Amino acid sequence: MVAAMGGLLFGYDIGISGGVTSMESFLKKFFPSVLEKQKDEAAHESEYCKFDSQLLTLFTSSLYFAALVASFFAAAVTRTFGRKPSMFIGGLVFLIGSILNGVAMNVGLLIIGRLLLGVGVGFANQSVPVYLSEMAPAKIRGALNIGFQMAATIGILAAGLINYGTAKIEGGWGWRLSLALAAIPAIMMVIGAVLLPDTAVAKRMLQRVRGTQDVDDEFQDLVDASEAAKKVEHPWRNILEKRYRPQLALCTLIPFFQQLTGINVIMFYAPVLFKTLGFGDDASLMSAVITGLVNVLATVVSIFSVDRFGRRVLLLEGGAQMIISQVAVGIMVALKFGVNGEGTLSKTDANLLVFLICVYVAAFAWSWGPSGWLVPTEICPLEIRSAGQAINVSVNMLFTFFIAQTFLSLLCHMKFGLFFFFAVFVITMTVFIHLFLPETKNVPIEEMNRVC
Ligand code: BGC
Repeated sequence: MVAAMGGLLFGYDIGISGGVTSMESFLKKFFPSVLEKQKDEAAHESEYCKFDSQLLTLFTSSLYFAALVASFFAAAVTRTFGRKPSMFIGGLVFLIGSILNGVAMNVGLLIIGRLLLGVGVGFANQSVPVYLSEMAPAKIRGALNIGFQMAATIGILAAGLINYGTAKIEGGWGWRLSLALAAIPAIMMVIGAVLLPDTAVAKRMLQRVRGTQDVDDEFQDLVDASEAAKKVEHPWRNILEKRYRPQLALCTLIPFFQQLTGINVIMFYAPVLFKTLGFGDDASLMSAVITGLVNVLATVVSIFSVDRFGRRVLLLEGGAQMIISQVAVGIMVALKFGVNGEGTLSKTDANLLVFLICVYVAAFAWSWGPSGWLVPTEICPLEIRSAGQAINVSVNMLFTFFIAQTFLSLLCHMKFGLFFFFAVFVITMTVFIHLFLPETKNVPIEEMNRVC
């Protein structure tokens, strides 16, 4: 649970920026031109383009760019010093970033704060999922690793609720509170890192975790594996070796596909998207809370089924469900707003739209959400694990950055077609899983080469 706190920090960031960027007082202070454009109906040719601004998306996306860069340093720190220092540094940098964001007086400070938060996320996402997969007995590795994703979804929901509350603060400084409260998960992570045992120094710990003295065989396996890993000097060169092609392919494609589901359109921009589609301020922030709640609840489903039914079943079912709901949303937006983006939603339409989006979020939350962090950490043998995870984190962050930066302008140009665009990717990835993903449930992490 303590290690999974890293997920909280990740999730809080994902959930907080969309709500903040839909708050008028925030836009007025940092992005007055966006606010003017939004108010001046004549200035934007269609509803689809209401919020289109590269500077505004930079506020959201800059964090993921920093996380991308940081994950490479984090890999070296994790390999050399262990998971704990990595989590500690991540939490600390994140703490400074959240303070800067809370007191920011201009866009520059705001973005520097976001970059520091990104460094924190890079470190946390590198170390936490690996730590969890290594700690867990094979039979419940899926469930324990999903602790990370579970915490991320709780962070997203908490951010949605906080935005809903702070938007109502008179005086227009609510967004400061929203941004500064990121300090709470950061402090939890710093304290957590100090209290955690490290996987590198492990026999006593292993006995404590397993609740038995009889851990010699398993311990020996770990020692052998780690000796072998120490002999290997170049994890980066190794992962490029031919025998690790499957791992390299999976560590690259899984995060790519995870982001190309389009999930972060909802996670980052739900309030903005709902406002674009004509929802009021309150309704927009409330919708983010609803999707956030569905996200948390559906993640619980994956915790209970991932070690029973396996990763493949969840990914295939989740993929199919996402395709259906995305196509339905695309058709609905097309019918209501057409190509020129003029139209309104009735109350029934709006409810149906929120429902369809919830069906989509639920599917992601029990499939690609958790598996995107679970599978890459468990399929890599120790000698390439930190390199594999660095690739996973950086590819994930690269495409998170890409979606965060381009979504508002993609929506403006591709209109309802954007939903079909993502559906095509989900079809591709579902076929990919069907053809290429080995089932890893219940396979001890040291014996993964049996299946990969
Ligand atoms: C993804 C995030 C996403 C979140 C939603 C995570 O697994 O990496 O990009 O926002 O799930 O719950």
